[in-house]
Amino acid sequence: MIRFMCEDDLEEVCSIENKMFSKPWSKSDFFTSMKNRQNIYLVAEEPQGEIVGYCGCWGVVDEGQITNVAVKPEARCKGIGTEMLKELIRIGRDEGLLQFTLEVRESNMQAIRLYEKLGFSSAGIRKNFYEAPLENAVIMWLTDDNSSGCMRNRD
Ligand SMILES: CC(C)(COP(=O)(O)OP(=O)(O)OC[C@H]1O[C@@H](n2cnc3c(N)ncnc32)[C@H](O)[C@@H]1OP(=O)(O)O)[C@@H](O)C(=O)NCCC(=O)NCCS
Repeated sequence: MIRFMCEDDLEEVCSIENKMFSKPWSKSDFFTSMKNRQNIYLVAEEPQGEIVGYCGCWGVVDEGQITNVAVKPEARCKGIGTEMLKELIRIGRDEGLLQFTLEVRESNMQAIRLYEKLGFSSAGIRKNFYEAPLENAVIMWLTDDNSSGCMRNRD
């Protein structure tokens, strides 16, 4: 089940976040972002109640800036990342977001493939954007012009 993130989820979300990222978001980072009504934060929950993934975006005027996407290692490659992002984009569009953007490490091919599958395309490189380890970021956008992949995959 994909549903909105709530305060009670933050312990589990941060436990995934801490294991996965060298510069993890804190509980208060998630809390502040989640509480802002312009923003959309979702979790993927298994029937037994375990959180296996989460994603979120800031709504800035008519743009969705995707800040977090993660799926627990043992739950990957089952379509959870795809379903969470499709839901995020669907809700965002309903709320008036016209385009979506994100940054991703240049070497993170799993994530880049996932974004491309949803219709995102690369708009350039942000040099040495990431630390620990230092790496370029690929800047990706999903606009009305390149969203056909996303629409196709909604079926
Ligand atoms: C990126 C991530 C969220 C993908 O989640 P997921 O639930 O495994 O993704 P899905 O099962 O929906 O896969 C979607 C697509 O991603 C690509 N993909 C996912 N895992 C892949 C892998 N191991 N190798 C190659 N491509 C892969 C494929 O294109 C896949 O589509 P397909 O199944 O039709 O081939 C997950 O790997 C993750 O949490 N990674 C660590 C955190 C991270 O890098 N977050 C992104 C930060 S920008």
